[in-house]
Formats: sequence, structure tokens, C-alpha cells
Amino acid sequence: NGKARISIAIDGPAGAGKSTIAKIISKTLNILYLDTGAMYRAVALKAIRESVDTLNREQMSKLVENIDIKIAHSEDIQRIFLDGEDVTDFIRTPEVSIGASNVATVPAVRLKMVELQREIAKKNSVVMDGRDIGTYVLPDATLKFFLTASVEARAIRRYNELLSKGITQITLEDVKKDIEYRDKNDSNREFAPLSKAPDAIEIDTTDLTIEQVVNKIMEYAKDYVC
Ligand code: DC
Repeated sequence: NGKARISIAIDGPAGAGKSTIAKIISKTLNILYLDTGAMYRAVALKAIRESVDTLNREQMSKLVENIDIKIAHSEDIQRIFLDGEDVTDFIRTPEVSIGASNVATVPAVRLKMVELQREIAKKNSVVMDGRDIGTYVLPDATLKFFLTASVEARAIRRYNELLSKGITQITLEDVKKDIEYRDKNDSNREFAPLSKAPDAIEIDTTDLTIEQVVNKIMEYAKDYVC
């Protein structure tokens, strides 16, 4: 239709509910959902496979020079391709989570991913989730949300998610440690750290159901239903 493109930024720390909520919002509004964390995860997977230290700026900058990351959507599921290979099912392990947080501190990596993200937002109406969407990737987004939750609540959610995916050799305490490491790493990096944009609406999801969070967001987004 002839409506102007819209973009919705959903940022926040790991386990705050971003991807679950963003998927529902994208369906409700009939717009594209882009999970930007998957991109950093794919970069980390490549580094791990090639035994490159995910915190080594020089080596990581080199590694992304010729990387080919592509996003495709099939039946509501975002698939991610790394150098032509569908790696969607390999990027959710704890090792890749930590690696993604590490590679995301490298400016050359971010610049490359952000370019791709902006390109997608230029061509489509999107709901994008990540850490720096409202502050850096799409500073002029139509609507911005910042989801938070206690670290305990986030750890339990992530733990259950991993169990449901058959990843069972990890304890709740391990998951909590991973989340704390990433919170610190993602918030303290120099370039485009995790932070709430001044014009973002903050929602603490600790004691809210998925439906309650969706309803809160839809109060703001209802005017954009296509
Ligand atoms: O959302 P996620 O857990 O899949 O993200 C994995 C890591 O990628 C996260 O710890 C930090 C990084 N990331 C980022 O720096 N910027 C984004 N927009 C999305 C993710």
C-alpha cells in the first residue's frame, strides 16, 4: 500500500523478551522482523570455526572484510546465511552467545552489520531488535522501546529456552553468569553500547506476561496496523 515506511526499535539486555515480543508485533503489524543479534552471532560462529580470538580487534576486522551475511525469511522464521551456508540452527549455543558479545565490541564488525541493517530498514517497514537500534542504527525510528527485566528473570527465561532447544549440559547458574558477562560487555563498550535512547519507552517485563508486554507496545503502535 502507499503508506510510508515505519520502523520500530526494540532494545534491551539478553533475556528481556525482545525477540519474542518483536515477532508478535511484526505479525500484528504485518511488517518485517529483523533479529540483529543473529548477525553478530553469525560473525562469532565464523570466528570460532576459524579459531580467531573474538576479542582481537585486528583479527576480527580482517575476518569481516569479506564476510557474506544474508538474511532470508521463510514462514515467519528468520534464516541467516554465513558465506552461503544456512547457520540458523548453530548460533544459539552459549559459546556463540559470549562470542557474539565479544565481536560486537569491534567497531569494524559493527559498521558492517549496521550497514546491512540500515539497508533492510530503507527497503521495508521493520521491527528490529538489538542493543543499539534506537540509539545508533535507526535514530529516527517511528517508535522506540527499551525492555528490561531483573537478571534472575532473564536467566530463567534463557535457561528454559535453551532446555527447549535440547541444550541441557548447562546450569541456571552458568546461564546467569553468561548474561552478567554480556550485560557488562554490551553496556561498557565504547562504540554504540547498549543503552536506552532518550526517546525510548521503557518497559520492565520482570512481572509481565508476554501478552501484557505486547498490549503495552500495541497501545503506541496500533495506529500503524496495515
Ligand atoms: O540479542 P542476542 O542475544 O542474540 O545478541 C547477541 C550479542 O550480540 C549481544 O550480547 C550483543 C550483540 N549485539 C549487539 O551488540 N548489537 C545488536 N544490535 C544486537 C546484538
